[in-house]
Amino acid sequence: MKTAIYPGSFDPITNGHLDLIERASRIFDRLIVTILYNNRKQPLFSLEERISMIEKAVSHLDNVEVKFYSGLLVDWARENDCHIIVRGLRAVTDFEYEIQMSQTNRLLSPELDTVFVTTDMKYGYLSSSTVREVAYFHGDLSHFVPDFIAEELRKKFPEPPSEQ
Ligand code: PNS
Repeated sequence: MKTAIYPGSFDPITNGHLDLIERASRIFDRLIVTILYNNRKQPLFSLEERISMIEKAVSHLDNVEVKFYSGLLVDWARENDCHIIVRGLRAVTDFEYEIQMSQTNRLLSPELDTVFVTTDMKYGYLSSSTVREVAYFHGDLSHFVPDFIAEELRKKFPEPPSEQ
């Protein structure tokens, strides 16, 4: 049985992430979507909120689980006896960050491989940070996230920002 881990901050999960999860769930027998800490980022949504949003968004996929882990990705992979990490690649701008992470993880755990899945063209521009920014300025979120997540974002930014 081929198990893969799809790690990320998912703050919040976007249509781009969901497209990748659906595709990876067809490639692997079991996919563990895992929220991990990215210490370069200060999350908008709590861990519990992110877990519940992802669970709802992937509930139609039988072989996908949603977890969180507070340590290193390599330790989480070991705990799950998993040797495959899946990451999405959008534009060339992702490449430097992704290769650095992938090589660091291989140094820490040589049995671990990262498989990159290229993002669908229609989501090539999409990131959680863009989504948060559009939400902050009360823009249209319908192309970026499922409706129920757009609602959660609107709760975070109930008032449009005041003029500076
Ligand atoms: O969605 P993101 O924020 O780009 O995902 C990055 C993430 C969470 C996968 C990465 O920061 C991570 O693996 N964090 C856990 C700690 C760890 O293992 N760091 C070493 C990787 S170089």
